[in-house]
Amino acid sequence: MPTLKVNLPEKNYPILIQKGILNHIGEKIKKIYQNKKIAIITDTHVEKLYGARIKKQLDNDFEIKMIVLEPGEKSKSMDVLQHVYNKLLEFEITRGDLIIAFGGGVVGDLTGFAAATLLRGIPFIQIPTSLLAQIDSSVGGKVAVNLPKGKNLVGNFYHPKAVFIDPDVLKTLDKRVFSDGMAEVIKYGCIRNKKLFDDLLKYNDEELFEHIEQIIYTCCHIKKSIVERDELDTGERMLLNFGHTLGHAVEKHYKYEKYTHGEAVAIGMYHITKKGEALGITDKKTSDCIKEILCKYHLPYEMPAMDQEEIIKTIGLDKKNKGQYMNIILIKKVGESLIKKIYKKDIVAFI
Ligand SMILES: NC(=O)c1ccc[n+]([C@@H]2O[C@H](COP(=O)([O-])OP(=O)(O)OC[C@H]3O[C@@H](n4cnc5c(N)ncnc54)[C@H](O)[C@@H]3O)[C@@H](O)[C@H]2O)c1
Repeated sequence: MPTLKVNLPEKNYPILIQKGILNHIGEKIKKIYQNKKIAIITDTHVEKLYGARIKKQLDNDFEIKMIVLEPGEKSKSMDVLQHVYNKLLEFEITRGDLIIAFGGGVVGDLTGFAAATLLRGIPFIQIPTSLLAQIDSSVGGKVAVNLPKGKNLVGNFYHPKAVFIDPDVLKTLDKRVFSDGMAEVIKYGCIRNKKLFDDLLKYNDEELFEHIEQIIYTCCHIKKSIVERDELDTGERMLLNFGHTLGHAVEKHYKYEKYTHGEAVAIGMYHITKKGEALGITDKKTSDCIKEILCKYHLPYEMPAMDQEEIIKTIGLDKKNKGQYMNIILIKKVGESLIKKIYKKDIVAFI
């Protein structure tokens, strides 16, 4: 079974990736947790499809409480967080018990934040079920909820005890949600792994699924290696934001309704690469390769018509861009990325 280990100064934890692992999750959890209570936090979509299966795996050995949330970004809120705290306290959870985040990135981020903060920290496990959560949000310890003023504004770094990834559950993902995750897979290829990028270009749908374990492994390996070197996101980890700066401006302009996060990142990756080419930083024709792969995975690439001032304002307000400088993530070519520190006033050349 493909297994990775995240090695951090204060904590190590495994990432296990295996088709069908959900059918053996009871054994896996028994090996790392011996107390009685487990709270499983999920959403209605995932609960309907897989709730009974996970419960059956754990019911004989543990006392289980399922907390089922409405699906979607709206659940990553302070109100829902408070509801989750209440449910966990009604269950009389203690710091010796366990919480499981069973769902996409919304469930993972919210559950992780609840686990990090309730009673000053309760151990938790990630069982990510969307592609984005399997290759990105479940690894690296960033947990958060949104505020009305912006996304992920209240958060922490809090790592799980383990991450169990079952690629089989991706079969039930909505097509658009799957493509959304593919944008981040493509991002890993762009910033660190040309072979991944080339493989993705060549696979048909069937081959993609045949190789999905390996693809998830490669993405998690890139992410965990970067996180090990820069856990707190002050240097190399910023490379993971390739495409995100402009993407964020696009998402925000359309009030998070027209484009999914992955679609906005796809536009951001293509656009910044074109700018990189024009400035002589990126090899010529790199943006053509990105366009080709985005089209293949049903992702947009063209920047919608937007007011430049508005883009600059959104980018400037981003919590990562304090002071007079900001960091722009570019690629030299597919597989090789760089962080360029620029004066904020020079941002206009990149949009
Ligand atoms: N912590 C991090 O490092 C990090 C990184 C990237 C993104 N994020 C966060 O992740 C969130 C987005 O995550 P997401 O894209 O997974 O969204 P999501 O959690 O809303 O899931 C997308 C949809 O897919 C459904 N779903 C999930 N698994 C399913 C399955 N196996 N079968 C059928 N349906 C399924 C969900 O119910 C939901 O409707 C955002 O809030 C973003 O900020 C966090």
